[in-house]
Amino acid sequence: MEESLYREIEEIIEKYREEETPLLCVLQEVQEKFHYLPRNVLGYIAKKMNVPSSTVYGVATFYSFFETNPVGEYVIRVCKSTPCHVQGAFNVLQALKRELGLKEGETSKDGKFTLEVTSCLGVCGVAPAMMINDVTYGNLNDERVREILALYRR
Ligand code: FES
Repeated sequence: MEESLYREIEEIIEKYREEETPLLCVLQEVQEKFHYLPRNVLGYIAKKMNVPSSTVYGVATFYSFFETNPVGEYVIRVCKSTPCHVQGAFNVLQALKRELGLKEGETSKDGKFTLEVTSCLGVCGVAPAMMINDVTYGNLNDERVREILALYRR
């Protein structure tokens, strides 16, 4: 990792020092920068924050919004929890797989999209739902999936 990246991580850690949950804040912002949380970065965060590496790694792997493997520019997370499931999440996932030519957990060759499934996104009122990075989309069907993907393919 480049020297400047270490400095950036240190600045992020410093920024959240007074927060109630500094580790979560740090991981979130570092992920925004790298798109995922590489192992060596997690190790560096642990060292700098004086937290056991196992704790940092445990937090990074516990929450579905953290990525510990390389991902595409846009990470699509389709909700598969019951309210979305009964409203057609399976069809939404099929439409995404068809449109993107990807299976769950895969990233497109051009590095643009990663397709994942997740549990409740907290917007059950507009089920079935998905997130693309930090934007939530609800009331999905085949047509809406195509329209939404078109926005990201530009
Ligand atoms: S169950 Fe899908 S958003 Fe809650």
